[in-house]
Amino acid sequence: MAGPSIALIGAGRMGAALASGWLAGRGKPDIRIQDPKPSETVTEWAGAGKVSLNPEPEPVDVLVIAVKPQVFPKMAESLKPWIGPQTLVLSIMAGTRLKQLTERLGTGHVIRVMPNTPGAIGKGVSVMAKSDIVMAKQLEIAGKLLKPLGEVIGPVDEKHMSVVTGLSGSGPAYVFLMAEAMADAAMAEGLPAELAEQLAALTIEGAAALMVQSDEAPSALRKAVTSPGGTTQAALDILMDEGGMPILMRKAIRAAANRDRELSRDTD
Ligand SMILES: NC(=O)c1ccc[n+]([C@@H]2O[C@H](COP(=O)([O-])OP(=O)(O)OC[C@H]3O[C@@H](n4cnc5c(N)ncnc54)[C@H](OP(=O)(O)O)[C@@H]3O)[C@@H](O)[C@H]2O)c1
Repeated sequence: MAGPSIALIGAGRMGAALASGWLAGRGKPDIRIQDPKPSETVTEWAGAGKVSLNPEPEPVDVLVIAVKPQVFPKMAESLKPWIGPQTLVLSIMAGTRLKQLTERLGTGHVIRVMPNTPGAIGKGVSVMAKSDIVMAKQLEIAGKLLKPLGEVIGPVDEKHMSVVTGLSGSGPAYVFLMAEAMADAAMAEGLPAELAEQLAALTIEGAAALMVQSDEAPSALRKAVTSPGGTTQAALDILMDEGGMPILMRKAIRAAANRDRELSRDTD
């Protein structure tokens, strides 16, 4: 059976990562890409007949919106020709709510998704929220289309999406900051920069892999490497002190979630 016809609006980092995953799958997917300034890769795909680039819009099975959220209100009207009565709209735009998608596009078949940047290498996590009328079959299609970005979670209640944004959407930046801070601290203690940066990145990679593979909670893994009176304990006494990492993270995720709530109000 042929796959769904897909129109991808915006083939930037996220959009191109999705399309490249669809192209790597089996069969010959029907992918139409709309992007006024397509990248070299996208232009090559079109040249090789793998996708059609900037074709005349017509109703498709799935319309995937991957432009920046601030661009969307200006172009929403122009997307309507892609939408028929059965078209599923899948938006990966941060902070654009289901209600806004429905109102601007004139359809209730909408799913919004919060992906994250590791999706560009298939190691991301995408969290879905859907409007009431989205059918199980459409949800399944959405899950399959998001697979190239990594794990797919949901649907969750849309009210959770601001915190999801603060956790998994923005979260990769917190980990990059941690790598930076760990390396800087080691350099300040005299380690050569290259060695410090390499060890910080590899430590985070290894700890993350261990955590994902293990059945134990992160707190149990932490306790397992912390001998009383040892070196890890000395460091954690600082990190977990009053005003330390747990409270900082609490404030950081609250700030990110609040910012998401503000941004989604701005685009009303
Ligand atoms: N990156 C992340 O970590 C992340 C995480 C969660 C959610 N998201 C969401 O994913 C979406 C895409 O992010 P991204 O990082 O992939 O952004 P991006 O790289 O800027 O991609 C957006 C693409 O859309 C194109 N575009 C602009 N106007 C257009 C139009 N009128 N019609 C069609 N295409 C148009 C852009 O072209 P130009 O470059 O020429 O403007 C660009 O190629 C955003 O809504 C963002 O909120 C991203």
